[in-house]
Amino acid sequence: MTKYVIRGGKPLYGTVEISGAKNAAVAILPAALLVDGVCRIENIPQISDVTLILNILQELGADVRTVNRTTVDIDCSHIRNARVPDTLARKIRASYYLIGALLGRFGSAEVPPPGGCDFGGRPIDLHIKGFVAMGAEVDVKGGLICAKAKDGRMAGTTVYMDMSSVGATMNIMLAAVLATGTTVIENAAKEPHIVDLANFLNSMGASIMGAGTDVIKIKGVDHLSGGSYSIIPDQIEAGTYMAAVTATGGEVLIKNVIPKHLECITAKLVEMGAEVEEQDDAVLVRRDRPLERTNIKTLPYPGFPTDMQPQVAACLCLAQGTSVLTEGVWDNRYRYVDEFRRMGAQIQVDGKIAVIEGVAQLTGAAVEACDLRAGAALVIAGLAAQGSTEISQVRHIERGYEDIVRKLSGIGADIRVVVTPDETKAVQAG
Ligand code: EPZ
Repeated sequence: MTKYVIRGGKPLYGTVEISGAKNAAVAILPAALLVDGVCRIENIPQISDVTLILNILQELGADVRTVNRTTVDIDCSHIRNARVPDTLARKIRASYYLIGALLGRFGSAEVPPPGGCDFGGRPIDLHIKGFVAMGAEVDVKGGLICAKAKDGRMAGTTVYMDMSSVGATMNIMLAAVLATGTTVIENAAKEPHIVDLANFLNSMGASIMGAGTDVIKIKGVDHLSGGSYSIIPDQIEAGTYMAAVTATGGEVLIKNVIPKHLECITAKLVEMGAEVEEQDDAVLVRRDRPLERTNIKTLPYPGFPTDMQPQVAACLCLAQGTSVLTEGVWDNRYRYVDEFRRMGAQIQVDGKIAVIEGVAQLTGAAVEACDLRAGAALVIAGLAAQGSTEISQVRHIERGYEDIVRKLSGIGADIRVVVTPDETKAVQAG
């Protein structure tokens, strides 16, 4: 079993480089299925979710060539519309983008239901509502989501999203770029990775307007040719390092970011006592005075991102006073709280609200990551805590954070990877 062992209580100092955005990459890579030519995609994060998606594309017959550590050439000109392998697809949430991409390219798709972080129900009814509105018949049989365009090709229409959904907005965009006619998505989500997907598709010959606003218009085209595109920096990875130095104290230059995407995170960390200096493609974050309490509600972009909720909770555990955290997007995103309590945190959770009483210090403990951002939050708590913290189930963290141990060590963290024989295997062997 692989664990991270952290000796905490040290401020962080130095410079860290942010990688490409996970939630953009896991949509842009499947979007290559729509392109009849070679897509050169740059600034891809080296994370396991990306590796999985590339493996799925290869299973479908795509030609994937590594150009360098963060760049691949993907040629889907000759792919066959094979069934997506269940073993791979069920491991990540983003496999649902394969439905929109295959529907858009072939007019049909057979994809296993998605996996991903467990926050209670993660329905895809809004995705299906969009596909059906565009003329597809969708049903689940034999453990697969089976979708087929009635006339062999998706048809443009207007789709009103009952609620702001990142995945549904991007999936409908994927199904619409090669459709007949024009598709209008109303009440669309506005996250930076949605704009990134639209920019990628437009660079390949699509006609998408309005991404980043709540009305996106997609004029269907006959085909997408090849091209090259560089993925935006990861807003949440950057926010995670901002929260880390806010929790531990110190001063860190976080490079390769788009400050505009971090505005809401910056505003809240400054309320808590951090100082944030914005530069063209970097933010300098410093915290050298006591952490102050604040209240935070997570909301769709441009609100405070839900994917930063566990990380900022780690900071609030050490803030003077009582803070109220409200999860505005997911039904149950507080599974990490029990692990924080093992470190001395004082948190009460009631439904979507967590009331956090700040404590003078957290103490290191053996804890377990239960999902991607919860795992990152435990790393932050361990960095700030007195003593040693051992984090298990780190595979969750490595789904979305490239080289996190190296990057943290580079800013002064005492963190190392420890691989121990897997007790369960030992028992089986015995
Ligand atoms: C994306 O998930 C991200 N994942 C999540 O990040 C992120 O938390 C979420 O957007 C919100 O920003 C990826 O991009 C791979 P939604 P997604 O559709 O698309 C409800 C991370 O840590 N809903 O915006 O699944 C849903 O239950 C991950 O990187 C429906 O009811 O999120 C939720 O309450 C975790 N029906 C809300 O909408 C649907 O058909 C927002 O979900 C779809 C969603």
